[in-house]
Amino acid sequence: MATSINPRPALPPFSLRPARRSEQPTLANVYARGFWKDVLFGDYIHPYREKYPADNDLYWLRRMQVEWWDWTHRFIVSTVNDEKIGKEIVTGVAHWARLGPEGAKKYGLRWWDPRRIILPLSHLYTSITSCFFPNRAAHPDLEDVIERAYPFINPWTGSREESWYLEWLAVAPEYHGQGHGRALVQWGLDRAKEENICASVIAAYGKEKFYENCGFNNTAGTAGQGEGNPLADTPGGVVYFRDVPWESNGLANGHDSSLTNGLRQKS
Ligand SMILES: CC(C)(COP(=O)(O)OP(=O)(O)OC[C@H]1O[C@@H](n2cnc3c(N)ncnc32)[C@H](O)[C@@H]1OP(=O)(O)O)[C@@H](O)C(=O)NCCC(=O)NCCS
Repeated sequence: MATSINPRPALPPFSLRPARRSEQPTLANVYARGFWKDVLFGDYIHPYREKYPADNDLYWLRRMQVEWWDWTHRFIVSTVNDEKIGKEIVTGVAHWARLGPEGAKKYGLRWWDPRRIILPLSHLYTSITSCFFPNRAAHPDLEDVIERAYPFINPWTGSREESWYLEWLAVAPEYHGQGHGRALVQWGLDRAKEENICASVIAAYGKEKFYENCGFNNTAGTAGQGEGNPLADTPGGVVYFRDVPWESNGLANGHDSSLTNGLRQKS
C-alpha cells in the first residue's frame, strides 16, 4: 500500500511502498549511484567503477538477491510519478532488517516452512555466479570487507537486542534534498516505535548529521573498532541508535559527540 507524502508545499509529492522483486535491478542502480562518491563503497571498495559501472550495480544486486529471501528484511522504496512520461519512478530505497530473537519469531519463517530453502539457495546462486561473472569494479581484496568487519561490531545486545536496523539507504542523486531519505528512515523508526524497541544504523561518512536530524539519539562505537578490523582506517561508520523511550526527544546522555564531531568537520 503506497503512502503519499507531501513534505513541503514547494517540493513535489512522493510516495513510499514496499519494493517489488522485479525492481531489484532498478534498486541496485539507485544504490550504486547513491553510493558512487561514498568513501567506502565508492573509492575504497570499487576503485574500478568508472570502467565497469554495471559491475558496481551487480554488487548491490547480489546483496539484495540474497537478503530478499530473509523474511525479517524489508525493502521500501520512495517513488514519484513522472507526468511527462506517465510513469512511476523509483527515487530511493531503504533496506530495513528486524533484528533479535523476538523479531525472528514475529517476522521470520517457521522451521517447517519450505520457503526457508530459498535463502541458502540464493546464497549458493550468487556465489556461483560471482565466480563466472566477478565484480570487476571492486578491488579483489576488498569486495567482502563489510562481511569481514561485521564480527567486530556487536552493539545489538541487552536492551538493544531487538532492533529495526537500517542496513542500506540511498536516494538517487537527482532526487536528493526532497525529503525522500528522511521519509525512508522514518518508515523504520515508526516500526520500532510501534514495537517499543530501538532502531539502529551504521552511518556512512558525512551522513552523521542526517541521522541525528532524523532522530537517532545515541552512538555505540564505530564499524571500524577492534584490533584487526579491516575497516579500522576507513572514516565514518558511526553506529547510531534511536533508543527507547520513544517519548523523549533530543540527544540522550549516552551520545558520545567526540565520535561525530571530527567527522562532521571533515564532511
Ligand atoms: C543520505 C541520503 C539518503 C539523504 O537523502 P535525501 O533524500 O537527500 O535527504 P532528505 O531530503 O530527506 O533530507 C532530510 C534532512 O537531512 C538533511 N541532510 C541530507 N543529507 C545530509 C547530510 N549529508 N548531512 C547533513 N544533513 C543532511 C537535509 O538537508 C534535510 O534537512 P531539513 O529537513 O532540515 O531540510 C542521500 O544523501 C543519499 O542517498 N546519500 C548517498 C548514500 C548514503 O550515504 N546513504 C546513507 C548510508 S548510511
